[in-house]
Amino acid sequence: MKIDLSITIGKLKLKNPVLLASGTVGYGNEIAQYTDLSKLGGIVTKSLSLKPRKGNPPQRIVETPSGMLNAIGLANVGVEAFIKEKIPFLKELDTTIICNIAASTIEEYVECTKILEPEDTIKAFEINVSCPNVKEGGLEFGNDTKAVGRITEQVRAVTKKPLIIKLSPNVSRISDFAKVIKQEGGDAVSAINTLVGTSFNIMTRRPKIKNITGGLSGPAIKPVALAKVLEISRNVDIPIIGIGGIMNWMDVVEFMIAGASAIQLGTVNFINPNAGVEIIEGLKSYCEKTSLTKLSGLTASYQI
Ligand SMILES: Cc1cc2nc3c(=O)[nH]c(=O)nc-3n(C[C@H](O)[C@H](O)[C@H](O)COP(=O)(O)O)c2cc1C
Repeated sequence: MKIDLSITIGKLKLKNPVLLASGTVGYGNEIAQYTDLSKLGGIVTKSLSLKPRKGNPPQRIVETPSGMLNAIGLANVGVEAFIKEKIPFLKELDTTIICNIAASTIEEYVECTKILEPEDTIKAFEINVSCPNVKEGGLEFGNDTKAVGRITEQVRAVTKKPLIIKLSPNVSRISDFAKVIKQEGGDAVSAINTLVGTSFNIMTRRPKIKNITGGLSGPAIKPVALAKVLEISRNVDIPIIGIGGIMNWMDVVEFMIAGASAIQLGTVNFINPNAGVEIIEGLKSYCEKTSLTKLSGLTASYQI
């Protein structure tokens, strides 16, 4: 049986719906020796800012029940070094490269996008308006529909590439954000970024994370992420990339049923860097067993 795993997100065509999430695989090079990146639907880079960022001081990561908290604080090499040092490696890969951008001001989002726009290796932009671990930018934008609308509109004006906005779950109605993004010319949304959380050391009575709070990810957040994807797909006609606690192919099927066209893998990469490839194999077998010739047919197949 011939199975078509390809999916489309607006103008973006991917060989399969499995992408690696921003911040969990560096710029692809950090994971390359442990898996075959060319088998994946795509890779999303670590969030890039205009200038290099050191991020937050340690401790930046802590394990939690069924997940982890991180407060990396968007440590990254900056756009110029990305182009010089990271693109040559990414260029050689037979997979779709999506560039994630973070910023402290709307002007910085626009400037970063303009600088990266001429790079043919980059097939789409994912705009991070939802990092919970930085003082400026991050949730200040991600919590405000007007700010998200303005970012979408102004970045749209400087790029012809597919534009994906990455949403925060730390809001009351995530679908309101997706609505604004669609209105302002965004091609897709990715949902979700991490949930704000914290954790204490009971002996020192201090937060385990230096930043005090961090972003919760991993299996613990999967039901939240699924509900957010479902809310968006019920209310807004826009492609959704589902993210949050995906560990195996069955989780991917759930996200597609809820309305996701594609998915991203984050925390699982730290446990099994080959998870993406194994998940693609699992999806293929699922299609065979259920006589599904086109995997994309699963998207939003749940009828209310
Ligand atoms: C260590 C770590 C660093 C992250 N860095 C970023 C980042 O730079 N930009 C971003 O948009 N999301 C970042 N994320 C969020 C992930 O891309 C993803 O949205 C989130 O972890 C939920 O997916 P998961 O449960 O599969 O990990 C980071 C997550 C982790 C665990």
